[in-house]
Amino acid sequence: MHLKLLPTFFSFCILVVAVVAVDNAETSALLSIKSGLIDPLGLLSNWTKNTPYCRWNGVQCDSTGSVEGLGLSRMNLSGKISEEIQHLTSLARLNLCCNAFSSSLPRSLTKLQKLEVLDVSLNSFAGLFPTGFTATGLTVVNTSGNNFVGLLPEDFGNLTSLEILDLRGSFFEGSIPKSYRNLRNLKFLGVSGNNLTGKIPAELGELSMLEKLIIGYNGFEGGIPPEFGNLSSLRYLDIAVGNLDGEIPMELGKMQSLTTVYLYKNNLKGDIPKEIGNMSALVLLDLSDNQISGAIPIEIARLSKLQLLNLMCNRLTGSIPAGIDELTKLQVLELWNNSLTGPLPANLGRNSSLQWLDVSSNSLSGEIPDGLCNGNNLTKLILFNNQFSGPIPMSLSSCSSLVRVRMQNNKFNGTVPNGLGKLAKLQRLELASNELDGEIPADLASSLSLSFIDLSHNHLKSSLPSNILSIPTLQSFMASDNELTGDIPAHFQDFPSLSEIDLSNNNLSGRIPASLASCEKLVKLNLGSNRLTGEIPTAIAMMSTLAIIDLSNNLLTGSFPESFGNSPALEMLNLANNNLSGPVPTNGILKTMNPNELAGNPGLCGGVLPPCGSAISHSIMTSRRSDHIKHIVAGWATGVAAVLAIAIAVFAVHQLYRRWYTVDGCFCDGCDEETSSGSGHAAPRIPAPEFRQR
Ligand SMILES: *[C@@H]1O[C@H](CO)[C@@H](O)[C@H](O)[C@H]1NC(C)=O
Ligand SMILES: *[C@@H]1O[C@H](CO)[C@@H](O)[C@H](O)[C@H]1NC(C)=O
Ligand SMILES: *[C@@H]1O[C@H](CO)[C@@H](O)[C@H](O)[C@H]1NC(C)=O
Ligand SMILES: *[C@@H]1O[C@H](CO)[C@@H](O)[C@H](O)[C@H]1NC(C)=O
Ligand SMILES: *[C@@H]1O[C@H](CO)[C@@H](O)[C@H](O)[C@H]1NC(C)=O
Ligand SMILES: *[C@@H]1O[C@H](CO)[C@@H](O)[C@H](O)[C@H]1NC(C)=O
Ligand SMILES: *[C@@H]1O[C@H](CO)[C@@H](O)[C@H](O)[C@H]1NC(C)=O
Ligand SMILES: *[C@@H]1O[C@H](CO)[C@@H](O)[C@H](O)[C@H]1NC(C)=O
Ligand SMILES: *[C@@H]1O[C@H](CO)[C@@H](O)[C@H](O)[C@H]1NC(C)=O
Ligand SMILES: *[C@@H]1O[C@H](CO)[C@@H](O)[C@H](O)[C@H]1NC(C)=O
Ligand SMILES: *[C@@H]1O[C@H](CO)[C@@H](O)[C@H](O)[C@H]1NC(C)=O
Ligand SMILES: *[C@@H]1O[C@H](CO)[C@@H](O)[C@H](O)[C@H]1NC(C)=O
Repeated sequence: MHLKLLPTFFSFCILVVAVVAVDNAETSALLSIKSGLIDPLGLLSNWTKNTPYCRWNGVQCDSTGSVEGLGLSRMNLSGKISEEIQHLTSLARLNLCCNAFSSSLPRSLTKLQKLEVLDVSLNSFAGLFPTGFTATGLTVVNTSGNNFVGLLPEDFGNLTSLEILDLRGSFFEGSIPKSYRNLRNLKFLGVSGNNLTGKIPAELGELSMLEKLIIGYNGFEGGIPPEFGNLSSLRYLDIAVGNLDGEIPMELGKMQSLTTVYLYKNNLKGDIPKEIGNMSALVLLDLSDNQISGAIPIEIARLSKLQLLNLMCNRLTGSIPAGIDELTKLQVLELWNNSLTGPLPANLGRNSSLQWLDVSSNSLSGEIPDGLCNGNNLTKLILFNNQFSGPIPMSLSSCSSLVRVRMQNNKFNGTVPNGLGKLAKLQRLELASNELDGEIPADLASSLSLSFIDLSHNHLKSSLPSNILSIPTLQSFMASDNELTGDIPAHFQDFPSLSEIDLSNNNLSGRIPASLASCEKLVKLNLGSNRLTGEIPTAIAMMSTLAIIDLSNNLLTGSFPESFGNSPALEMLNLANNNLSGPVPTNGILKTMNPNELAGNPGLCGGVLPPCGSAISHSIMTSRRSDHIKHIVAGWATGVAAVLAIAIAVFAVHQLYRRWYTVDGCFCDGCDEETSSGSGHAAPRIPAPEFRQR
């Protein structure tokens, strides 16, 4: 060998030795990691000594052949990460996301000085999060969706390169360390869905680069720090669901970049600061479920980009600012369960794509603006429990986007507009308890989408459209307490969905159609207080799901159908005040029937009534009545228990899901019978708004 080449040769040898040493150290570290893992899909099966580790699945090497990245996400891995990981001294990116780990993290992670990205999200990692990180270049830490306990790591405050700190959805407790004020590069701070308590540190207001701050779903108390107004880069603020009180600081008005503000479900008090009108970038504003009082500031009408305004379940008074109808981007307006008065803004919806309008349970009045559905985007129109008056706008009949129209308990007068039956998406039509008169429009019967119709407690005078009960999707039809005349339609769909019919307190005549029996899902039938004649069709007495039947106060004749006694679901049968005659059968449930429900039929006798020919014995009547009550109570108890069991199961699943990313339902229980199916909170923790049914 040429002498000149000798030094080169030696350095080459040193390099080889070094590389081999590193090589060995990294190989054995990786194999040690592998041996601690449970790998049900065998995705690490090519981690074997006879292939270079740079080609192993998930291993990324840098140009010198050192392990720079370990990408083991979504591999169904569990087990324990070996402390040997500290020997991967060049490791910059560790991604263990979306596996099934339930161990604790190795403490030696803190020794990885080159670490830049640490993602252990969506596992069940438990225990304390390691402290004492030495990686000064750490920029991303994502621990979201795990079971970590203990305090939030204070020493993160020294890792000033951090840009993303996502600690959401574990069981961290204590407060947010004040040391986080040092994180001058931080753009994302998420600690929502933990067990954090205490006050929100005002020092967070110093994080001038912060774009997203997601800290809700914890137990924070005290107020929102006015210093947050200094977060001039903040676009997204979510402190929903907690115990915050105090007023909304007017300093928030300084935040010109803010597009999203979720403060719902806290105990915030006082007025909405008028400075909110200065947040010119605001798109989504949800302050619902608090104790906010006073009037909605007119300055809100300056938020020209606003798409969602949720202020429901507060204590707001005064009128809805007229200028809101100039918000051309407004899609969702939910103001329900407040004490608002006055009319809806005259041009609401005229120049916007309004999708949801829910102002129910206030004291609003006046007529409904005609342009609500001008954008043809309106799906929910919910106005119940107010004092609105005047006509139901004709324009609704051409609002083909409508799914739910709930206008009950107001003072609407005039007629039900023609054309609602042509709306292809309309499922719910609730117009009960108004002052409507005229006819039930025949076109309703042509609907292919309606499932719930309630026209009760009005002054409707027509006969029932002959096909109204054969809407294929119809589940409930209610038109009690009107002045309806004519026959009960005998047309039913081949496989009707009907489960409830209430036509009581009208002036219907003719016979009860035997074809009603084709309604195999019918549970409740109320035809009481009409002028129905003829016999009770035997077929009805044999319907398998029918539980509640009220045919009282009619002019029915003939005998008592024996088959009622064998009806499997029957709980209540009221035939009082008709002209039925003959013996009352004693089979099945009829043995314990309440005699009062047969009263006023002079021709009936036997069974629970005095034997044919004798006088009424009061003592027998009362004892049998209490039997009947027991029967009903037992029936109800079973039903209620079943409903409760389902509710508890749903609630449990809901709670689990809630820990992570999602919205709680309406907290304002009882606002509406459907609140369990959700309210209109916008989804709080991920930017894309998601709306819930009401
Ligand atoms: C190991 O598996 C990965 C993923 O299937 C593959 O990309 C890689 O080429 C494999 N390496 C060897 C040495 O077979
Ligand atoms: C992998 O994990 C997912 C999610 O936990 C699970 O649905 C799937 O069944 C698992 N696959 C195997 C083969 O275990
Ligand atoms: C953290 O990880 C979760 C789940 O993998 C992901 O959805 C979330 O976007 C990540 N956080 C950030 C700030 O990127
Ligand atoms: C953070 O840095 C400070 C000094 O800047 C030091 O006193 C403290 O011990 C450090 N904390 C940790 C956990 O490294
Ligand atoms: C976290 O809080 C929940 C209720 O908010 C409680 O049930 C749970 O025990 C707490 N967990 C820890 C680890 O403190
Ligand atoms: C931050 O906000 C507070 C209160 O709003 C104010 O007193 C303080 O001067 C602000 N600090 C900075 C650095 O802007
Ligand atoms: C913020 O709003 C208030 C009241 O609405 C107004 O007087 C003030 O000039 C606004 N400030 C800025 C910076 O826009
Ligand atoms: C509707 O909004 C547009 C801007 O989006 C505006 O130019 C137009 O004047 C508005 N029309 C009415 C009637 O308000
Ligand atoms: C409104 O509806 C139209 C079609 O009817 C649709 O093109 C448009 O995207 C909708 N607007 C919004 C904001 O959803
Ligand atoms: C509705 O009521 C108002 C008074 O509240 C009355 O002026 C109007 O004529 C009524 N309309 C109809 C169609 O009955
Ligand atoms: C019901 O009809 C009867 C006779 O058809 C009529 O005398 C009565 O006035 C009607 N009642 C109502 C409230 O319309
Ligand atoms: C209305 O909202 C308040 C909270 O502001 C709540 O306490 C109350 O139960 C709600 N009312 C109804 C009828 O749900």
